[in-house]
Amino acid sequence: MCGIVGYIGKQTAIPILVEGLKKLEYRGYDSAGVAVLDQDGIFVCKSVGKLVALEDKLGDEYPSTSMGIGHTRWATHGRPSDLNAHPHSDCAGDFAVVHNGIIENYMELREWLVEQGHRLVSETDTEVLPHLVEHFYQGDLVTAVRKVLGKIRGAFAMVVLSRSDPDKLVAVRQDSPLVVGLGDGEFFVASDIPAILNHTRKTYILADGEMVILTRNRAEVTDFQGNPLEKDVFEVKWDAVAAEKGGYEHFMLKEIHEQPRAIRDTLLGRLSEYGVELQEVDLTAEEVNHFRKVFIVACGTAWHAGLVGKSLIERWARIPVEVDIASEFRYRSPLIDQETLVVVISQSGETADTLAALREAKRLGAHVVAVTNVVGSSVSREAHDVIYTWAGPEIAVASTKAYTTQLVGMVLFGLYLAQAKGTLSLEKIQAIVTALKELPGQAQEVLHRAAVIEKLAKSFVKVEDTFFIGRGLDWAVAMEGSLKLKEISYIHAEAYAAGELKHGTLALITEETPVIGIATQMDVYEKTLSNIKEVKARDAKVIGIAFEGNNDIHKSVDEVIYLPKTVSELAPILTVIPLQLLAYYASVARGCDVDKPRNLAKSVTVE
Ligand code: F6R
Repeated sequence: MCGIVGYIGKQTAIPILVEGLKKLEYRGYDSAGVAVLDQDGIFVCKSVGKLVALEDKLGDEYPSTSMGIGHTRWATHGRPSDLNAHPHSDCAGDFAVVHNGIIENYMELREWLVEQGHRLVSETDTEVLPHLVEHFYQGDLVTAVRKVLGKIRGAFAMVVLSRSDPDKLVAVRQDSPLVVGLGDGEFFVASDIPAILNHTRKTYILADGEMVILTRNRAEVTDFQGNPLEKDVFEVKWDAVAAEKGGYEHFMLKEIHEQPRAIRDTLLGRLSEYGVELQEVDLTAEEVNHFRKVFIVACGTAWHAGLVGKSLIERWARIPVEVDIASEFRYRSPLIDQETLVVVISQSGETADTLAALREAKRLGAHVVAVTNVVGSSVSREAHDVIYTWAGPEIAVASTKAYTTQLVGMVLFGLYLAQAKGTLSLEKIQAIVTALKELPGQAQEVLHRAAVIEKLAKSFVKVEDTFFIGRGLDWAVAMEGSLKLKEISYIHAEAYAAGELKHGTLALITEETPVIGIATQMDVYEKTLSNIKEVKARDAKVIGIAFEGNNDIHKSVDEVIYLPKTVSELAPILTVIPLQLLAYYASVARGCDVDKPRNLAKSVTVE
């Protein structure tokens, strides 16, 4: 996730671009850059760090030309640096490109371009784009861009600026957002509406497979083949702050709704008909077979993702796994040696305890794999291998899309280990891969149930205590559901292994304590149902969560939220979504500060 902006009109472009980028900083903020057409060619200025660093570098002495492109980056391929910042250029400096998304086949394109004599200088996937435009350019920018579209695969929104076509910007969209703003003798293109709101409220949203050619007089939309398209212009009514949240009331709700996209991006380029491809993990089958033990180490929500990871790795790769809370790990003299694999999970990649655990594990000789969301973070720099979760920046303190993508990361890594060890049949791997491909659409289906969950959450306004129960993977998700509710609605919530209730906790169940009973794990479904009946018999109000088709559950609960059916191992990725929504709407109903809950910070960089 990055932010891109383009301008063509009559005003000096750079201040407009920088102002637009400021509104897009929520999409990424590790580096930024602008490119404008100057008399001598294309002027490019870029800087690592937040936008202020770019502003400092630009100073007051920049070209006053009236067309350009800008970018604020959230690193995917290549760490944050001046060189990796956008815009990227071709060999001759005739073209500049800003891009948001992932070019899946960039490695093969890069090799091909190098064979053709191109010099690529950054570590990014984006850099292939200006070089491809350069390769195909024969006097017409639009034709060249169309030819590039025939070569690239992946998710992208990009804007291209050409020295030889001084009155034209070309922008395209495939699976990454792009809006066009219509001004008076000026046009804007951006990743999101807030970037253009200070200039115009007239806009339309490009759909996948669409291209817009902007000149000073008109905006012409076509499909990738060049067939003209009509767009319906609409007037934005939101204010700028609401627009930054994409029209959602809070960042948390926006991020919950981004999960289908985040899951899709995290899977992108990592699945094949034979299973999982994790090019970023550099372990041979021999090395994998050498591991006698795995430790998963993390904090909070990331630790909950680790609990799911343990189950998957043990089930699929048959290696014993321990899951540790990072702040406990290094003080308990863990038994680690060179036959130990340590997996650290961290959204921010900066959590002090997780980082300290990583360092301790390395010191003791373990091989360390990090699952993180932030390219260039301390964890990503210090681990031996990194599996990135492409969730994009998470702004709300309560983690949502980071968790679901961490689960996807653990599924991918579990399959990777199993493939290397030969512990799963091809048939089973293919069944999981098929189910993984369906996940983004299924997550979207779950989100369609938000209104029902909102209604249920209203009954939590006066609740003091609640329990989340489940068995196996459902228990792991129960922990995440209870943490979400606690941290943003301040309701005391506990997660319990459903079968353990009768060993004490059942004494706390009354009609005042709602219970969320999760029953997606089919091997223990009947047993979980019995435990749900136990709490129901103590007058608790029970909300059940089960797969569609398990209709008998409704007899034992007050309400049921049904989920689209997937394989048991992937269920947590869907199950957590109603729990996130329940916490969110309960928090709103209780008048809490959803995005900034009391006493909490997004990134805990102290012990
Ligand atoms: C809860 C939450 C925290 C984080 C934890 C670890 O919603 O966000 O529990 O999961 O502080 O943070 P990272 O993943 O950045 O290491």
